[in-house]
Amino acid sequence: MPACVLPAPKGTTCANYARIPVVKNDGDSMDATSDTLVDSWETWNSFRLLCEHHSQLCVALDILNSLPSENSLARWFGESVRAAIINTHSFLTNARGYPCLSKRHQKLITRFFNHSIQIIISGNSVHPKARLVADVSHNHSVSDSQRHPLRPYLDYVGYLYQKMDPLPEQERFELGYRDFLQAPLQYQRAVCKALLDRVPDEEASVKTTVLMVVGAGRGPLVRASLQAAEETGRKLKVYAVEKNPNAIVTLHALIKLEGWEDIVTIVSSDMRSWNAPEEADILVSELLGSFGDNELSPECLDGAERFLKQDGISIPSSYTSFLQPVTSSKLYNDVKAHKDLAHFETAYVVKIHNAARLAPSQPVFTFTHPKPDKESNDRYKKMHFVIPNDTGSAMVHGFAGYFDATLYKDVHLGIEPSTATPNMFSWFAIFFPLRSPIYVGPGSTLEVNFWRCSGPKKVWYEWCVTSPTPSPIHNTNGRSYWVGL
Ligand SMILES: C[S@@+](CC[C@H](N)C(=O)[O-])C[C@H]1O[C@@H](n2cnc3c(N)ncnc32)[C@H](O)[C@@H]1O
Repeated sequence: MPACVLPAPKGTTCANYARIPVVKNDGDSMDATSDTLVDSWETWNSFRLLCEHHSQLCVALDILNSLPSENSLARWFGESVRAAIINTHSFLTNARGYPCLSKRHQKLITRFFNHSIQIIISGNSVHPKARLVADVSHNHSVSDSQRHPLRPYLDYVGYLYQKMDPLPEQERFELGYRDFLQAPLQYQRAVCKALLDRVPDEEASVKTTVLMVVGAGRGPLVRASLQAAEETGRKLKVYAVEKNPNAIVTLHALIKLEGWEDIVTIVSSDMRSWNAPEEADILVSELLGSFGDNELSPECLDGAERFLKQDGISIPSSYTSFLQPVTSSKLYNDVKAHKDLAHFETAYVVKIHNAARLAPSQPVFTFTHPKPDKESNDRYKKMHFVIPNDTGSAMVHGFAGYFDATLYKDVHLGIEPSTATPNMFSWFAIFFPLRSPIYVGPGSTLEVNFWRCSGPKKVWYEWCVTSPTPSPIHNTNGRSYWVGL
């Protein structure tokens, strides 16, 4: 049996139902709450808590003719919903007597399809005319008895599926894994603006700008910088600094192939220890992780800024991480399956899909380059997320993290959902789990604390919730998850 659908528990007191799931137990259904209107999410939540968030416990949603608010519905997309049951009574009738659904229902069904949620049609046919019409117009040979009475409903749901927009190419591509940088266009725009600011037109033919790409990788930013020089008519001298010897081999091949030997010097070194022969006008780097500063960009650039001129420009000039609370029982269960503490104290790079984003994201840590004075790279931020009233209650399984970087002036690059760079698939979001999911009521405030900490050899994050219920501090002293310096 791939699955077994059980009737929903009545009311939120369902201890006995959770204990003996396949045996009908009238005890619980005598509850006083059984007749009062309860938020069905609360029922599901009590039940799954009693079952310890079991990963094989799923939901089949009953879709009635009235739907709750958008936010309330959105919660379910972070839960393990496997099926949606639409009763024939929830269908409307179109001008030709066929069953159809309201616009909101249509939108919801499309969303179900997008999340691989099965649609089940239940009830008796309440559109007898449709059956008749369908038989006459479509297939004369099919007799009334051969045709399933629910066929017109199935046809309609099938029609909704067919008229869905196909998955955009980018989305299909993203189903794989994180790819290399796809953002050189933004960098090229930023370098253009920086070159124009540094070198006025009248000096364009005499002044050479020293540009250093630190962490040059396979060379996309070297190419973008040279293209920017060509576009603006500015003269450039480039240093490509890279610590990975494999990338250095690729870089040498690229420089030779393109005939850039006179302009580009390749430096096989760690930028933190390199003794630069001269100072740079512009420092270009792409050391950002999904959460901005999580791949040691601040520490590496601390090292590189030694050889940036006093009035030099860093591209990026700043970056900020962002966080928002999410319901995602899928991710929570995946983490839990490891059965250890360390996995609950680790951040994961993930294309978050089956999740409900419970409140708008908020900025966490900002780093500016060149760095103001001798500022520490350690950070602490307390955030308050308000769960909208019309969401109802929800479960917070963890936090989705993003970044937004200002490359130069108005040129930015990032994955924070409200400002994300379009058509960019270089970074997925990051997910910080919680050891125990936190229940939040409608209109309640979730208080979250995040730290960026460092020691002589490593950098790490710690996090906890302090309200409505406190969680332990996760990853204390970087015991489970860190990045080595
Ligand atoms: C995120 S990658 C981006 C590289 C390039 N944009 C690309 O797409 O190939 C960062 C690069 O910086 C290099 N890197 C990181 N830290 C470095 C350091 N301290 N010194 C020199 N290179 C470093 C890495 O080896 C890697 O090639």
